[in-house]
Amino acid sequence: MYDNAEQELASLEERGLLRDLQALPETGGKIVIEGKKVLNFSSNDYMGLARDQRLKEAAVEAVSRYGCGATASRLLAGHLTLHEELESDLSRMMDTDAALVFGSGFLTNLGVLSSLAGPGDHVFSDRLNHASLIDGIRLSRAHCYRYRHKDMAHLEDLLKKSQDTPGKRIIVSESVFSMDGDIAPLKELSELASRYHAMLIIDEAHAIGVFGRQGGGVCRIPGREIQPDVIIGTLSKALGGYGGFVACSVSVRRLLINKARSFIYSTGLPPACLGSARAAVRIITSEPEPGTTLLEKARRFHSLLTQHSLKMPDFESQILPIIVGGNEDVMRFSESLSRKGLLVKGVRPPTVPPGTARVRLSLTLSMTDSALEQAACAIAEAAEEVGIALHGSTGVTTQ
Ligand SMILES: Cc1ncc(COP(=O)(O)O)c(C=O)c1O
Repeated sequence: MYDNAEQELASLEERGLLRDLQALPETGGKIVIEGKKVLNFSSNDYMGLARDQRLKEAAVEAVSRYGCGATASRLLAGHLTLHEELESDLSRMMDTDAALVFGSGFLTNLGVLSSLAGPGDHVFSDRLNHASLIDGIRLSRAHCYRYRHKDMAHLEDLLKKSQDTPGKRIIVSESVFSMDGDIAPLKELSELASRYHAMLIIDEAHAIGVFGRQGGGVCRIPGREIQPDVIIGTLSKALGGYGGFVACSVSVRRLLINKARSFIYSTGLPPACLGSARAAVRIITSEPEPGTTLLEKARRFHSLLTQHSLKMPDFESQILPIIVGGNEDVMRFSESLSRKGLLVKGVRPPTVPPGTARVRLSLTLSMTDSALEQAACAIAEAAEEVGIALHGSTGVTTQ
């Protein structure tokens, strides 16, 4: 019996950090909760594919052909032809020589970082990188240097200082930052990586399907293309299903199959996920730049919010944070939004740095302009009610 649980929970509650689950009756941009229509700003189903008929049919077909589970890890009997088919679809979409599918984006990051870095190596990580990247670096037991968010001068300084120490160098960053929606300076990261002979790993979890040529992410934006050594992606956000993947060279793929513990010691992704992901990739890659409409919608919504005097960081992506600061304040804001028919969850530390609790508005393709106009008014009213309209700060996450 673990008798400290109640004490720990009480301590979390006291600090305004207690989290709870809310069971939703359905997924989608517009959902009905307890008989009330709600606009869902907390989903990462950016392109509205999770409920797409083509994905559902592909998942059903895969289940009828292969069954419900992969039945074993990929190195045993759990490697299906469907895994290989999806991996060649993904490498074509990402324009890399190879791809490897993992159980989730989180597991991909654990596997990639802990395989490509090891004790004595040096990993340079943006201070706002996702928990899965941080945990991957911890597992690798490499030296970790956290550079200030998007601060290339700081990164270069750290690279210089470690220049004469033995060991591999790896720079790792998200492209679109999950909780801030801003975009890393990829060209500069790529230049620093080649100047200091470092490997570059870019996590495109929130960009794949939305940004770039054929939805291949920010690294594939025409005219701004870069070639990182490794790109991490997820099947769980814009691709509407579940799973993660890495897009890389043939040799990195082979190395991961041999070293990544989250790949080796876990059952292969199940057929339903593989089937739906193949359909999602087909849909996404059928357009030259699939995210254009979503990003225009997000830009209009951002400008509506600023017209309502809400202080917002500059527009960069479909993720729009409103930074509140205090943990209790953000939860009051989120509750007020919920009473107004908007599902916008509060995000608190440790997901974001202390003092930068926020609501994270995530735009999805199904949101109509009129629904967004009403939502902007409701958000401004709620901000007024809880007294944050004039206190929202834009710069606090850059630490
Ligand atoms: C930047 C980033 N990388 C990786 C992940 C993990 O992806 P998944 O949800 O597929 O496990 C997330 C999820 O939120 C993320 O934001």
